[in-house]
Amino acid sequence: MGTVILGTGSSLPKKTMSNFDLEQIVDTSDEWIRTRTGIENRRIGGKGEKTYQLAAQAARNALQMAGVEASELDLIVVGTISSHMIMPSCACYVQAEIGADNAFAYDVNAACSGFLYGLDIADKQIRADRQAKILVIGAETLSTRLNWQDRNTCILFGDGAGAAVLGYSEEEQREIIGTNHQSDGSLWDLLYMHNAPSMNPDLRVENDGDSVIVMEGREVFKHAVKAMEDSITGLFEKTGLGIEDVDLMIPHQANMRILNKVIERLNFPIEKVFLNVKNYGNTSAASIPIALDESNRDEKMKRGDVLLFCAFGGGLTWGSTLLRW
Ligand code: UT7
Repeated sequence: MGTVILGTGSSLPKKTMSNFDLEQIVDTSDEWIRTRTGIENRRIGGKGEKTYQLAAQAARNALQMAGVEASELDLIVVGTISSHMIMPSCACYVQAEIGADNAFAYDVNAACSGFLYGLDIADKQIRADRQAKILVIGAETLSTRLNWQDRNTCILFGDGAGAAVLGYSEEEQREIIGTNHQSDGSLWDLLYMHNAPSMNPDLRVENDGDSVIVMEGREVFKHAVKAMEDSITGLFEKTGLGIEDVDLMIPHQANMRILNKVIERLNFPIEKVFLNVKNYGNTSAASIPIALDESNRDEKMKRGDVLLFCAFGGGLTWGSTLLRW
């Protein structure tokens, strides 16, 4: 008994952009992208598909599955780094869109780890108030934040949103078992995105206003593999569980080479890993909840199964979560 996921939902833009489409935009090839990342397609937002609109649709789908009314929600947390506004938050837009009049709402800025950090917040809130119903969303339109001339980054990311409704359950064998999250702000410059230009000249930062993703790909790769491996190992130590106890791993779908390395170093069976990176690319905070919703709707897990989530992103931020479904 404890915090459980009552329903999941996701929402993806209609437009698909393939590696072949990218060949028309930058000097790249389908072969390079597929072999270096495992990505074949990604979705790109169009009209009516802003971050909050995708997030709200994912939320409606999750609420419907959970059998929870929007008015029953106490809190909405959205993990995002690509809302169309800095203020109000994406979460406030979602609140208004779905009519969650009794909730308070805010965003979590933790890049690709945003959804897992949000789950952690929800779990702690629900432990303090067992009546609480909380909506956690990961939503991004990173297509709005890419330099489409930079082949190092523009081929990697995609748009989408995923959501989960959380509450307390008295049922035995269902709970968030544990989390193991960390950040290292000293490594911020490996993966970052500037803000709007400072209107205070004294606080101007070089290249501010250039609000696109900048990344040291190789360094990020190395840190991602080590951080996810260490996070999962640490979580097993904390919870007394091990690889043999996990029924399904749903990792952040950053790229296949990172995931293969993590799986290999942990000696984790690949058939127990849910993968959809080839269809959507890296959707940052949305990647785990989209994968969770797909695996849930495809009935990849059953009640009582142990699920393992792990994420890594800009900040640097990373973490892992174990839950009994
Ligand atoms: O949530 C975390 C988000 N970040 C990530 O997941 C990214 C982690 N990093 C990576 O996955 C990899 O570093 C990349 C996929 C981004 C790049 O792969 P790499 O094997 O590290 O390639 P590289 O950056 O070392 O570049 C190798 C070559 C270079 O050419 P030269 O200098 O050897 O002639 C690049 O210019 O590949 C070239 N290159 C490309 N070629 C075709 C870089 N990007 C591309 C491209 N198409 N899109």
